[in-house]
Amino acid sequence: MYTEDTLSEKTILITGGGSGLGLAMAKGFAATGASIAICGRTEKKLHKACSEIKQEREGCVAKYYVTDVRDHDAVKGMIDSIVSDFGSLEGLVNNAAGNFLSASEDLTPGGFKAVVDIVLHGSFNCTHAFGNYLIKQKKEGSILNIVTTYAENTGSAFVLPSACSKAGVLAMTKSLAYEWAEYGIRVNAIAPGPFPTKGAWTRLVPDKMVDKFYLKKIPLKRYGEHRELANLAVFLMSDLAPYITGESVTIDGGERLKAGQFNFINELMSRKKLKAIFAKMKSGR
Ligand code: HXC
Repeated sequence: MYTEDTLSEKTILITGGGSGLGLAMAKGFAATGASIAICGRTEKKLHKACSEIKQEREGCVAKYYVTDVRDHDAVKGMIDSIVSDFGSLEGLVNNAAGNFLSASEDLTPGGFKAVVDIVLHGSFNCTHAFGNYLIKQKKEGSILNIVTTYAENTGSAFVLPSACSKAGVLAMTKSLAYEWAEYGIRVNAIAPGPFPTKGAWTRLVPDKMVDKFYLKKIPLKRYGEHRELANLAVFLMSDLAPYITGESVTIDGGERLKAGQFNFINELMSRKKLKAIFAKMKSGR
């Protein structure tokens, strides 16, 4: 679907790009022609990630910046450095996140703040610095926010700080898509369902039983593969999607549809038995 040129002449910053889904997206962007900047808090992880990203395409330029997205001044400095190193910056992916499972009554203000600072304030800091750069330079650009399937309608038990923060990021996506359209800045989101990563799974999937239960909730009966998310991110960041803005695309194997009123029926018995019952109901009309 994509070529080595799909994202050529674009430099893209991926926050939290040193591991997990951030790294997967960075590799996807690199393979399709982009120059890559990643940031995070741990230099060793970023250094290793950069080497892996460069292997995706011969001649790919990839650099890392040890920056905490919670620090607005540091983020502003990072954007300046990226522009100076690469010459320009065309894309931002707000991927850096923090999350953990906790009964909400046991949260400390510090725990709530830690997640909100990374997810909501971090996304704002990067978006604000990047947006101002684009506006001053009269440049068009694209922002992609990684949210969650529980950001839009349901929220989620046991991840209250994350649910509140991601809902805020989704609101930011739509608000800015409208406000910054006049500058030619597109703002979209991806809401990934379950894409196992070490960072998320060690914090969010307490044991094997939950893992098994989790799989049952997904109509397609499997977890997402990282390259599937990367493919969607490439599309939204590319010039193949110039008319898409303010959109949140869910990629979850159908997990969000679980609430459909009669969806539980196929869990009660085999399809064969169900069909026999339906046939009996039909004949008894
Ligand atoms: C309760 C906790 C906690 C836990 C930390 N805290 N972990 N409270 N349960 N498991 C509290 C601490 O007690 C402290 O509160 C406050 O949070 C800050 O903790 P620190 O460790 O000092 O903070 P920091 O080093 O900044 O770490 C931030 C973090 C951490 C969010 C707590 O988990 C982190 O760095 N995560 C980054 C990576 C990550 O989370 N990846 C998963 C994202 S997955 P006090 O009161 O003592 O100050 C995701 C996708 C969701 O978001 C969708 C999945 C399907």
